[in-house]
Amino acid sequence: CGIVAYLGHREACPIILKGLHRLEYRGYDSAGVALLNGELNVYKKKGKVSDLEAFIHEKDTHAHVGMGHTRWATHGEPNDENAHPHYSTSERIAIIHNGIIENYAALKTHLQQQGHVFHSDTDTEVFVNLIEEIQKQNDCSLEEAVRLALHEVVGAYAIVVLSKDAPNQLIAARKGSPMVIGIGEGEFFIASDATPIIEYTNEVVYVNDYEIVVIRDGQLEIRSKEDVSQTPYIQKLEMELDSIEKGGYEHFMLKEIFEQPRSILDSMRGRLEIEASHLNMGGIRAYEQKFINAQRIIIVACGTSWHAGLVAEYLIEDLARIPVEVEYASEFRYRNPIITERDIVIAISQSGETADTLAAIELAKSKGATIFGVCNVVGSSIARATDAGAYTHAGPEIGVASTKAFTAQVTVLTLLAMIMGQKRGTITDTKLRELMVELDTIPAKVTKALELDAQIREIAEEFKDATNFLYLGRGYNFPVALEGALKLKEISYIHAEGYPAAEMKHGPIALIDENMPMVVIATRDSSYEKVVSNIQEVKARKGRIIAVVSEGDKVIPAMAEFVIEVPHTSEVLMPLVSVVPLQLLSYHIAVLRGCNVDQPRNLAKSVTVE
Ligand code: G6P
Repeated sequence: CGIVAYLGHREACPIILKGLHRLEYRGYDSAGVALLNGELNVYKKKGKVSDLEAFIHEKDTHAHVGMGHTRWATHGEPNDENAHPHYSTSERIAIIHNGIIENYAALKTHLQQQGHVFHSDTDTEVFVNLIEEIQKQNDCSLEEAVRLALHEVVGAYAIVVLSKDAPNQLIAARKGSPMVIGIGEGEFFIASDATPIIEYTNEVVYVNDYEIVVIRDGQLEIRSKEDVSQTPYIQKLEMELDSIEKGGYEHFMLKEIFEQPRSILDSMRGRLEIEASHLNMGGIRAYEQKFINAQRIIIVACGTSWHAGLVAEYLIEDLARIPVEVEYASEFRYRNPIITERDIVIAISQSGETADTLAAIELAKSKGATIFGVCNVVGSSIARATDAGAYTHAGPEIGVASTKAFTAQVTVLTLLAMIMGQKRGTITDTKLRELMVELDTIPAKVTKALELDAQIREIAEEFKDATNFLYLGRGYNFPVALEGALKLKEISYIHAEGYPAAEMKHGPIALIDENMPMVVIATRDSSYEKVVSNIQEVKARKGRIIAVVSEGDKVIPAMAEFVIEVPHTSEVLMPLVSVVPLQLLSYHIAVLRGCNVDQPRNLAKSVTVE
C-alpha cells in the first residue's frame, strides 16, 4: 500500500492525490483521503486513484492538513468499506495504514466489548479504535494514545493518524513498513517513498522502526516508542523529477526497458574502470576478508530479484568458486536453515522493502552471518538492515513488472563475482581483463537489442491469443527463461513456464502441440549444441519455436518459425542482453491484449506484507 500526508500552507488535497498517483505502483485496488478542516472528512472508493478523483470532484476538499492511501488488499476484499482511511467509532479519529496487524482478531473482540463498532473487515479499523479507546481510558493526548497503542499491536505498520480534536497535527509511526518525511518551508510531507515529495523539497528524513513522528505547530518531532526524543537525520534527496515521469513513452515499463543502456551504465559507474583496469565496490571493502574466506554464499530474494540471484549463482560459482545457494526469502526463513558466521548472505531487492526478504535478513543476522544488500531504492529498509551493500543505481522503477532493475542487479552481481574471483585468485588476469572489456560493451549491445522492438511487436501479434507459453534456456540463460515467463505471466495473464531446456523432456514435452509457442534462448555458448537438439525435439512435435540467437547464427533459422538475433557477448554476460527481447515480447503481447501494463491486476511493486 502507499501512504501520503500533508500539513502546510497549500491546499492538501491536490498534493495528496498527486502523491497517490505516484505511489499507485504499490497497490491500486482502492484509494481514499481524509481531510481536516474543522471537520474530519473521509472520502474513499474501490478502484484506482482516478476513480477516487472522479468521486470527490464535487465535494468540498478545502483543507491544509490531510492524508491519503492507495491499497493492496490483505484483510478483506477490495471495496469501498475496506478502503482507507478508516474512522474510529466516534468518527473523530482517522487512520491510514500500510502493513498487517497480526493480533487484530483478539483486539477486535475486546474493542467490541467496549462498544466499538466496525464497518470493515480490516485490521486497520481495529488499530484506530484501539487508539480511541486508549485515549478515552487514559484521558491523554492523541500522541500518547498512539504511542500506547503501538505497545499493543503485533505486526507491521506505517500509519498516519488525524484527529478532529487536534486540528493542526499529524501523527505517524512505523515498524517494518517504509516511511519518509519531507521537510519544506513551513510544510511537511509524509509518504511511503520519496516520489510524492521530490517535487516540493529535497530534504527528507527516513523514519526508523519504532519511531513516532509528531508534526505540530510547524515543528517536526521524532520520539521513540519509549517516549524519548530522537534527533532527526535530515538527508538530501538526489532523485530527479524526470525520472519518475513517463517522458513521452506510452507506459513506464516501455520507458524503463529502453532506459537499460543507461541504467546498466549507471550501475557500473565508478565500479568498472577500464582504463585503469580496475574493479571497485565500496560496499565490500570493510568485509573483504569475509568475502575471501566465505565458506558459502546464500542469496535471498523474491520474484524477479530471485531470478537475478540465480544468475549470480552461476556467476559466483563460475568466477569465484564459492558454493552458492539461492533461496526464496519466504521459504528460507520458515525452514530452520543452517547458517553460520562464515556465511555471507546476499539480499537482492529492487524496492528494498519486500517483507519476506527483510525477515530473511533478520534471521540470518541473528545467526551471525554477514549480510550484503543489492538494492535499488536508496535509504530503503533492506539497504539499512544490511551490514554492507551496493546500490544498483537503476533509478526509480515504476512499472510493476521489473525490467531495468533486473539488468542493474545482474550487472552489480557480475562485478561482485569478478571482484571476488580476483581477490580469491580463482580467475586469471587475462580472463578478468577480457570480461571487463566485454562488460563495458554491454550498454551498446543492449541498445542494439532494443532495435529489435518492431520485429518483436510483429511476433507479439502472431502469439497474442496464445493461452500457454514455454520458455527454455540452459546455463546462464536458464534464469533468463524463468524471467521471460514471469514477465509474460505478470502483465499479459498468459500462463507461462520457464524450464531448463534439457529438463523439458522430463515433463513439459507432453504439453507440446501445434498451438504451443516455445521461446528458446539459444545463444552461442557452451551448451549451444545441446539446445539445438532440444529445439529439434520441439520441432518434431510441431511446437512453434521463437528462438533468441546470437547474431549470424546459421543453424537455428532453418528450424525455428521466428528468429530474434541479439548481439553476441560472453556467455557469462549473456543474460544482460538475452533478457531484453523477452521483456519487449511480454510488453507488446500485454498491450495487444489490452492489459494494464504498468499496473497488472492483483500485483504490487513493493510487497511489505509477508
Ligand atoms: C513483487 C513484485 C515483483 C518483484 C518482487 C520482489 O512481487 O511484483 O515484480 O520482483 O516483489 O521485489 P523486490 O523489490 O524485493 O525486488
